[in-house]
Amino acid sequence: MRFPLKATWLALTLAATTWSLPAAAADVQLSIDAGKPGPVIHRNVYGQFAEHLGTGIYEGMWVGPDSKVPNVRGWRKDVVGALKALKVPLVRWPGGCFADEYHWRDGIGPRGKRPVKVNTHWGGVPENNAVGTHEFFDLVEQLGAEAYVNGNLGTGSAQEMAEWLEYMTAEGSSTLAQQRRKNGRDKPFKVSYFAVGNEAWGCGGNMTPEYYTNQYRQVATFLKTPPGNKPQFVASGGNAQDTRWTEVLSTQNIKFNFDLIGHHYYSFPGGEWEKKGPAVGFDESAWIWLLAQAQDFGKTVEANIAVLDRNDPQKRIGLALDEWGSWYDPEPGSNPGFLVQRNTMRDAMLAALHFHMFHEHADRVRMTNIAQMVNVLQAMILTDKTRMVLTPTYHAFAMYTPFQDATTLPSTLAGNPAYALAGKTLPTVSASAARGKDGKLYLALLNVNPREAQTVKLALQGASATRAVGRVLSAAAMDSENTFAQPQAVQPVAYEAKAAGGTLSLPLPPKSIVVVALED
Ligand code: AHR
Repeated sequence: MRFPLKATWLALTLAATTWSLPAAAADVQLSIDAGKPGPVIHRNVYGQFAEHLGTGIYEGMWVGPDSKVPNVRGWRKDVVGALKALKVPLVRWPGGCFADEYHWRDGIGPRGKRPVKVNTHWGGVPENNAVGTHEFFDLVEQLGAEAYVNGNLGTGSAQEMAEWLEYMTAEGSSTLAQQRRKNGRDKPFKVSYFAVGNEAWGCGGNMTPEYYTNQYRQVATFLKTPPGNKPQFVASGGNAQDTRWTEVLSTQNIKFNFDLIGHHYYSFPGGEWEKKGPAVGFDESAWIWLLAQAQDFGKTVEANIAVLDRNDPQKRIGLALDEWGSWYDPEPGSNPGFLVQRNTMRDAMLAALHFHMFHEHADRVRMTNIAQMVNVLQAMILTDKTRMVLTPTYHAFAMYTPFQDATTLPSTLAGNPAYALAGKTLPTVSASAARGKDGKLYLALLNVNPREAQTVKLALQGASATRAVGRVLSAAAMDSENTFAQPQAVQPVAYEAKAAGGTLSLPLPPKSIVVVALED
């Protein structure tokens, strides 16, 4: 195996781990055409999701203003600081399944007087409504993010949703606008997206797509806002491999407006929902199984896009992949209704594979939300009382921030070996290139093989590059994770590659994510 003149990752990682030099493999050829810009990657493709579920909001982010844990108006300083560093562009709230049991009036006014309900979906624990509309908007404003509010179709009504929207967005002297002011908010809130229900095919009411579509038409008739503060409306769509919801919704869209169709896709190894497998301590077949789900997700997205291309050739409707990520068996000893799971290098790799797929379909995939932001499923951050740890998935999101609002560039891979095991096959290398908002050329490369290194040789058209500078994320084991005892076991390190003999070659360690800026 040949390395370019300088490969900082190699020096750093070999010093820090017990890896042996990887086996030789023929170089993969990557061609990028910087002269043929494609669609823009909407920054909200890097969106997050915070549901009233387990310790995802309470404890994980919200501690209340009287807590000894340092906080700003109740929101944890450490967690919000880490999320700000991640440039979180968008947060979806309050669910998920919780959304279809949430009544917004329970979450306004003095916190001590708010009703206590039972969170029937998630663990049957008390929900004291301490986090409501004002607190949520305070969080997104502290983060500098946009707000995606999910309305209640399941146990709510057109009236309740219409009044919530009026409460949040009205400017004038209506009673609801005045009530908002009395509760401490003069200016209207900015609602970027509003969804009518969640998973209407399941926890949102077990509806058929035809029934939901009729419900949507009725409700949407009454969802009115001041002209300058109109959210994009999201219709709840299908799940996993389904395309029927997209079919029915997009055929009906001609008269009854929505901007996006929500679609959910969770990845779990093994193919059996009841036996998803552990988050750590898995073997290589569970590694490839999970990562192969990224391909299946890609095929599902393509199938839904094909439906939209037929029914909406003007590309008016976007796809909102508003729940995605890994889902494993609950962490032993945890409340199974809290969906607590550990997070490893495998999760970071899954996230990065998904990012490449989102980039590839940037003209239709206009927003996504990983499930979820803190302490739930594929989280960015795990907390334990006053402590927090950043997961490998956090680092993957952090490395890809230059791709927010970047312009895609076409790239092709040749000589890309198959990585195959346990009946699953993936291309070893995945690549994505874009021109960042800062004008720089960015390249992301993945090597999904956990045992063998790979080198990528770059052929760049329409620009030139003699150096690649950025960061690499890899780990000693497939299930390496960051724990409270070892919070920095998996973290990105500096990476640099220089052209030799007129060729820029980028070495990729086994199981690695490399994100670099290409420099002349
Ligand atoms: O993210 C956890 C749950 O998964 C959400 O509440 C629901 O929409 C989905 O089934």
